[in-house]
Amino acid sequence: MSKQTKKYTTKTVAPGLAGINQAAELIKQGEVIAFPTETVYGLGADCFNVTALKKIYRAKGRPSDNPVIVHVASTEQVHDVANNVSETAKKLMDHFWPGPLTLVFEKKKDVPDIVTGGLKTVAVRIPQHHVAQAIIEQAGVPIAAPSANLSGKPSPTTAQAVLSDMDGKISLIIDSGPCEVGIESTVLDVTGKIPIILRPGMVTYEMLSEVIGQVDRKASDDEKAKSPGTKYSHYSPNANLTIIHGPQAAISRHILIKISADAAAGNKSGVMCYDQTKRNYSGSVISLGSQYNLKEVAKNLYEAFRKADEMALTNVYVEALDDKNEGSAIMNRLMHAANNQVEEI
Ligand code: TXA
Ligand code: MG
Repeated sequence: MSKQTKKYTTKTVAPGLAGINQAAELIKQGEVIAFPTETVYGLGADCFNVTALKKIYRAKGRPSDNPVIVHVASTEQVHDVANNVSETAKKLMDHFWPGPLTLVFEKKKDVPDIVTGGLKTVAVRIPQHHVAQAIIEQAGVPIAAPSANLSGKPSPTTAQAVLSDMDGKISLIIDSGPCEVGIESTVLDVTGKIPIILRPGMVTYEMLSEVIGQVDRKASDDEKAKSPGTKYSHYSPNANLTIIHGPQAAISRHILIKISADAAAGNKSGVMCYDQTKRNYSGSVISLGSQYNLKEVAKNLYEAFRKADEMALTNVYVEALDDKNEGSAIMNRLMHAANNQVEEI
């Protein structure tokens, strides 16, 4: 970014009382700040201040019809932005909040269109991070916040990743270390009879079904139109990413053959794998963690994407996970990053 476009001097501060107060003050003054949540870092502004909200879209370079999530500090505050909170929604709020579940409700009239991308619905969650909760409470307003990355980059899970995307674009980043969950919240539409998962996350289909019974896990095209986030391009790495799906032993063999064929053609390739399989490879190897600990894999995923970009590879091969439980959310992000490129072996 050129010097002329650096509007702010970006300060990174500790998550103590001083930092929280400063963040809340800036929100009240109509500014944008980056703050930690348990999922990923968010880029927050007062959800009723249209001028402040425009600054979020400007900082991210994000299309303004892509709605953002409203973060609240209590279930009472939901009613400041949403109408018709159903019994099913209440059950989910009781069970999963604070936490990585976003619920889509009918919106209140006073919620500005820029928050909801002109939709009649609003997405809301209570984050399970004491710093996020403290800032919302101090600011005294719900905070609208997308992930704090530039449009097209992976969501940031560290303050360093926020700084590398947002330097000069915002004035404050609260650094609370790496995010615990590592991928964005589950988005669940609860406006209809049967709730629909619009974006899978670490609150899984299986977990939701256990609490409320029937849940629709595959949004139809009509329903996808309700979540405009799904129509925009997501992060795709500089390298060409391919997911390799099949029996474990065959996967490693297949990837090794691909990497040596690439090398013979003068291309540098790498692999994203797991602690249990990393010894099968050499060279540019990124382990996502234990394949038996999907929470760990989710937590490491976006840093692995950033690492792959730094390695300047032509191709990256990723070992597929089973598309169930937490594996569904991880596969969803991998599929976006790979532009749905999967090789079945
Ligand atoms: O974990 C998270 O959800 C993080 C942290 C910061 O809370 N936030 C996040 O926000 O991932 P963002 O803006 O990057 O993604 C929000 C997603 C988008 O896919 C958007 O389309 C969807 O939520 N969304 C927002 N409002 C919606 C609405 N009214 N109806 C349907 N989908 C909505
Ligand atoms: Mg995002």
